[in-house]
Amino acid sequence: MTNPTVREIFDSMAYGPAPESNAEVLAWLSKHKAFGHWIDGAFTKPGATFESKNPATDKPLALITQGSAADVDAAVKAARSAQPKWAKLPGHARAKVLYALARLVQKHSRLLAVLETMDNGKPIRESRDIDIPLVARHFYYHAGLAQLIDTELPGQEPLGVCGAVIPWNFPLLMLAWKVAPALAAGNTVVLKPAEYTPLTALLFAELSREAGLPKGVLNIVTGDGDTGAAVVNHAGVNKIAFTGSTAVGRKIREATAGSGKALTLELGGKSPYIVFDDADIDSAIEGLVDAIWFNQGQVCCAGSRLLIQEGIADRFYEKLKRRMDGLRLGDPLDKCIDVGAIVDPVQLATIKGLVETNQDGETYHAACDVPEGCFYPPTLITGLSAASTLMQEEIFGPVLVAMTFRTPSEAVELANNTKYGLAATIWSENINLALDVAPKIKAGVVWVNATNLFDAAAGFGGVRESGFGREGGWEGLIAYLKPTHTTKPLSPVKPFEPPAVIEASSIDRTAKLYIAGKQARPDGGYSQPIWSPKGKLLGHAGLGNRKDIRNAVEAAHAAKAWAKTTAHTRAQILYYIAENLSARAAEFANRLRDLTGKSGEAEVEAAIARLFSYAAWADKFDGAVKSVPLRGVALAMNEPCGVIGALCPDDAPLLGLISIMAPAIAMGNTCILVPSEPFPLAATDFYQVLDTSDLPAGVVNIVTGSHAELAKPLAGHRDIDAVWSFSSTNLSTLIEKESAGNIKRTWVNNGQSRDWITEIDARTFLRAATEVKTIWVPFGE
Ligand code: NAI
Repeated sequence: MTNPTVREIFDSMAYGPAPESNAEVLAWLSKHKAFGHWIDGAFTKPGATFESKNPATDKPLALITQGSAADVDAAVKAARSAQPKWAKLPGHARAKVLYALARLVQKHSRLLAVLETMDNGKPIRESRDIDIPLVARHFYYHAGLAQLIDTELPGQEPLGVCGAVIPWNFPLLMLAWKVAPALAAGNTVVLKPAEYTPLTALLFAELSREAGLPKGVLNIVTGDGDTGAAVVNHAGVNKIAFTGSTAVGRKIREATAGSGKALTLELGGKSPYIVFDDADIDSAIEGLVDAIWFNQGQVCCAGSRLLIQEGIADRFYEKLKRRMDGLRLGDPLDKCIDVGAIVDPVQLATIKGLVETNQDGETYHAACDVPEGCFYPPTLITGLSAASTLMQEEIFGPVLVAMTFRTPSEAVELANNTKYGLAATIWSENINLALDVAPKIKAGVVWVNATNLFDAAAGFGGVRESGFGREGGWEGLIAYLKPTHTTKPLSPVKPFEPPAVIEASSIDRTAKLYIAGKQARPDGGYSQPIWSPKGKLLGHAGLGNRKDIRNAVEAAHAAKAWAKTTAHTRAQILYYIAENLSARAAEFANRLRDLTGKSGEAEVEAAIARLFSYAAWADKFDGAVKSVPLRGVALAMNEPCGVIGALCPDDAPLLGLISIMAPAIAMGNTCILVPSEPFPLAATDFYQVLDTSDLPAGVVNIVTGSHAELAKPLAGHRDIDAVWSFSSTNLSTLIEKESAGNIKRTWVNNGQSRDWITEIDARTFLRAATEVKTIWVPFGE
């Protein structure tokens, strides 16, 4: 091809190639050729290896060791022995190392960016201007958190050894998101990078030595999913932080069930991109380029589902297609390339398969040159319906699917018509509309008139099948800490036995269940007698079953307007419950004595105080405005989880139930409570208090019965958002396993006790009762 003349260049205004040199990277790679793992501050000898390839050229870059269970074990041992010393360092000492890491990432930013682009196929423009600067920012920010942790988070301690398993779409950034908070909090780490993209993690390992990170604090074991599973299953790991597909996230939830390991999951998404008819259309189209063609669409929070208001749809699609045609595909190392290579032929085949088997709507491939190899053209599929497979399934490629809506409420309904809940984008020049819609969308992150904004100070993470836990901000750090208090194993609390000779009781008293604000007979028609320690029949309590749980879930959903009441109203009602309980304090104290054989006064007093405490918190568990580097705000809003199902403590029949109910409803959740199994009658008396306290029907539902039987339908129910268990029957394994179905949040006691009288730890309960939603609102005309 002859070079164009100056005149031709001026006529076409086409970009010339601007390749970034890869010489430094090749020099670094040639020093290693084959990599071992990074364990205890040094590379191990390479073992059985596989190739890491450049997807844009299909050329091998290096040989990577497939980590075995023994390798993972060696890494966990190194992490374990380094952990106490690292945790004991003052926050300032850890801060200095994290700061050094941030500086080194900045100093080597070009090398890291070029290596990332070669290993992953993403355009250098993105790795240079987005990935690597965000990595440095993450370490700076967490150097700050490490500095402040001792004074700002007293009473917390690190979890121990954290296992991190990360994906290939943002290899070094995902490392930073896991490693920075773990180290800041005093944990040590065993990290398993994705098999397609391990190289920047290995370069980072070298930098960590230069930064003065003590040996064993960070260990990196390379390999595929089997190596990841070995990390997840290792008994010496205290927490798993995972980013990747929902399918693997579900497996990890099941694998860690009952192990006591803390878990955060950042999974897939099908995030809506809503454009109202008053939007600035050109900006919304530029936003879409960043939403779905950034990183070839291989982004968990990609705005992959366009919802466009009907009146502007045709004009919008036309402009969008024109913009798509102008996107430049090609050598990711070329600085003027917009769309690079798909990470691997396997992923390319998945994308092709999904698009080619689709029969719905109209498919438009951008009219741009598509190089040979692992490339896929920007694609738009319009005219889909809400039920179309491609409207529901994550494609994880440069494919945008679209449908129209008429009204804002329809937009919200369509946006929420997904199993996922990671992110959402809203375009409208009417800020009232945008800020009205944002809280209604089920997602962990919402961008208003912008998209794909990230920052270390702002929490990121999902709800529903997009996982749980936040990364970034104080809320992200908390996921690497636990309260410093020792717990004791909880022994099962047994009901009292009937006397040898049962005397006929005068009047039958069978307490019913409490569903939708009404007393309800148990569906199965069975009840159990409740005996006092002296063998006196105190009454009968219903034995709830799966169907009762189902009815209670329905009632809890019907009461969801509770989330929209003001915090002040919720506080008022909690105070009112306390007032009414106080009026009957002596009666409840007697009931507790009859049930448990112990004086009940202190428990009733503590229950009233607890209600006051969460009434106080209802309007004080504030969100935050995060200091992100943007002209605008990132609001962190504490939203209710939704419907919480809880197995209440057996040993504190009234206080235990109230300690769970109060934070849940204070934050706007509705709940299904299964009271103390041996002593349920305190709870059934308590619903009379609820009845006289202005609590809307269905906000609190009480189903008495066997914990072991009710745990499964609660944890497995797809319309319950979180399950807690403080039962003295250890149901932690069963609950965590069952919860994997819809990836609901769980909080289980792992068979450990809690002192309900003195235990206040209110923030832990409030955090469990809320999801942080980050809403980004840029300013400016
Ligand atoms: P993946 O979820 O299989 O892999 C993510 C990480 O988990 C990798 O490090 C992998 O080695 C590891 N892994 C795989 N199986 C494991 C197991 N049983 N136990 C522990 N670790 C395991 O994702 P993959 O296969 O790379 O991509 C498949 C699909 O997942 C993509 O098409 C995309 O839809 C989705 N995905 C979503 C990501 C996100 O950020 N939400 C990131 C990457 C992929």
